[in-house]
Amino acid sequence: MTDYTLEMFVQECRKKIADSECPADCVEKIAPSMYQLLNGDKSFLRAEHFRSDPEHYARNAIYIDENDVMSLFALVWLPGQWTPIHDHGTWGVVGVLEGTLEERNFIRMDTQTKAATNSIELARGGVILLAAGAVTSFVPNPDHIHITGNPDRHQRVVSLHLYGHAMAGFHIYDNEAQTREWVEVSYNES
Ligand SMILES: [Fe+2]
Repeated sequence: MTDYTLEMFVQECRKKIADSECPADCVEKIAPSMYQLLNGDKSFLRAEHFRSDPEHYARNAIYIDENDVMSLFALVWLPGQWTPIHDHGTWGVVGVLEGTLEERNFIRMDTQTKAATNSIELARGGVILLAAGAVTSFVPNPDHIHITGNPDRHQRVVSLHLYGHAMAGFHIYDNEAQTREWVEVSYNES
């Protein structure tokens, strides 16, 4: 697997996206590619992909597709750094490079339309611990609502995140106020 390059991964993903009829089809096809990328020689990774930020987890761009069909990031989580409750509004495939990443899920309990921004009721769901080398994925509709972070007190976590668009933002939920809003996100360019 040592000769599986980032270029090969991107080409393969582009073809799999084009050949997929729905997001579930897409993540099912791409998950093995992410697994291969994670468990190969990883020679595509550079020092800038491991940048961290003491204030919050860091998003380091690895590849942004110019036609907006996908984007790949290295996320670096220092001990205790977490996302807010969010969904991405698209599909995604996540692989862990280093450390153990935790994901806690939420389930939408209200019966409003998906687009509602108020009176959103969330129930806590299950938790997933993803060790280095593991791959997980998600699809929209219904939204995959979750928080992700690093519960470890000492070790950083580094993970690869492939999204089905250019990752311009995500929906952030305020569980107490029962609201959600679309928030643009920034990242470190490579
Ligand atoms: Fe997420």
